Amino acid sequence: MSQPTLPIHMRRNYFDPVPELAELRAEQPISRVATPWGLDVWLVTRYEDVRAVFGEGARFDADAIGISAADINLSHSEIRRLLQPDFTARRVIQLKPRIEKHVAEHLDLLARSDKPADFIETVAKPLPLQLIFELLGLPVETQPEFYRLNSLRLTNTADPQAQADAAAQCRAQMMELVAENRRNPNDGMLGRMVVNHGAEIDDDTITKLVDLILLSGYESTTSMLGLGVLLLLRNPEQIPLVQDELTVNQAVEEMLRYLTPGHSARPRVATEDIVIGGTTIPKGDVVLCSLHAANRDPEFVSNPDNVDLSRTQNAHLTFGYGIRRCIGAPLAQVEMSTVYRETFRRFPDLRLAVPFDQVQFQSAMVTYSVTALPVTW
Ligand code: HEM
Repeated sequence: MSQPTLPIHMRRNYFDPVPELAELRAEQPISRVATPWGLDVWLVTRYEDVRAVFGEGARFDADAIGISAADINLSHSEIRRLLQPDFTARRVIQLKPRIEKHVAEHLDLLARSDKPADFIETVAKPLPLQLIFELLGLPVETQPEFYRLNSLRLTNTADPQAQADAAAQCRAQMMELVAENRRNPNDGMLGRMVVNHGAEIDDDTITKLVDLILLSGYESTTSMLGLGVLLLLRNPEQIPLVQDELTVNQAVEEMLRYLTPGHSARPRVATEDIVIGGTTIPKGDVVLCSLHAANRDPEFVSNPDNVDLSRTQNAHLTFGYGIRRCIGAPLAQVEMSTVYRETFRRFPDLRLAVPFDQVQFQSAMVTYSVTALPVTW
């Protein structure tokens, strides 16, 4: 797998970080690296140090650069306050029957497909997309265009101008949908936002909030569904742990730790000189936290490079940590546990339809993934 132009924290060897990342973590856990967007950053690789950066909250500015909530005209705590009610564990439990229905429908489609079928095209890609569109209350017919534009925004190596244009187009289309909801609110999150907060926040802000959820709301889940099913097919002795209602949630946490789809958290800018793990990060410098290096740190878990779905101690950093921890985590967790459990209950003989070394992995985007997963049963 040749990925010479990618920075070290984005290079992977199938399910693993490249060995050089472990060397860096052992020898120079906070080190300067070049990034594709032309910026030198401090790469943080140890579990404790990554947690320390996340725990610093406001002393690092996570909105200054990169695809982020930077231009939303609200403080980060206000953004969380507005979005939180739609993402509580309770709300997600209410959504569970709908999630189960959509999973069952997509697995029906898989069952009716010609063999071999592509698990990504049939399940991993459309399912999270459909769920997030339904959650937000966005028209189905806008899916292909939003998908295309957001893929460009999420490609780390894409031309920055093309990315900015794609973001502007997404926002313009979203703005129209917000205006439509002002006239006739739908029963999704967008309609509720207009009804509940339309007096205090303007259309531009609502647009950016909804855009943030859409942009963050499916790609990582898609990536986890594809990588996760492949991981299980490679470790069939562990499949019973995802088929069982009692163990599937814990198994999902280990899959999240081991696979770590997001290469890094958002870049953070030091707002003052900050000491992390004995290294002073000067004010104005950019810090990038490698989530995969942190999750595979031997000081965090024993045998970090073994996938063990019965592992119990698992405070992984795949969703981040602290005030910016992923707001969609409870939703993603239910999506993943439902898909893995139901896929291997309904297709106990599921297997790869190509040799493993022919599966194409994709590393250049914000999240690592498999581009196609041909399966048969
Ligand atoms: C397996 C799936 C997912 C993974 C691995 C993931 C990962 C992450 C990570 C690592 C962060 C923190 C970034 C940082 O601290 O810089 C984050 C933030 C965020 N995620 Fe997720 N995410 C997933 C699914 C979702 C879903 C389904 C949604 C929404 C429906 C979502 C919405 C968000 C939002 C809005 C933020 C920003 C939170 C803030 O800045 O306060 N994510 N996600």
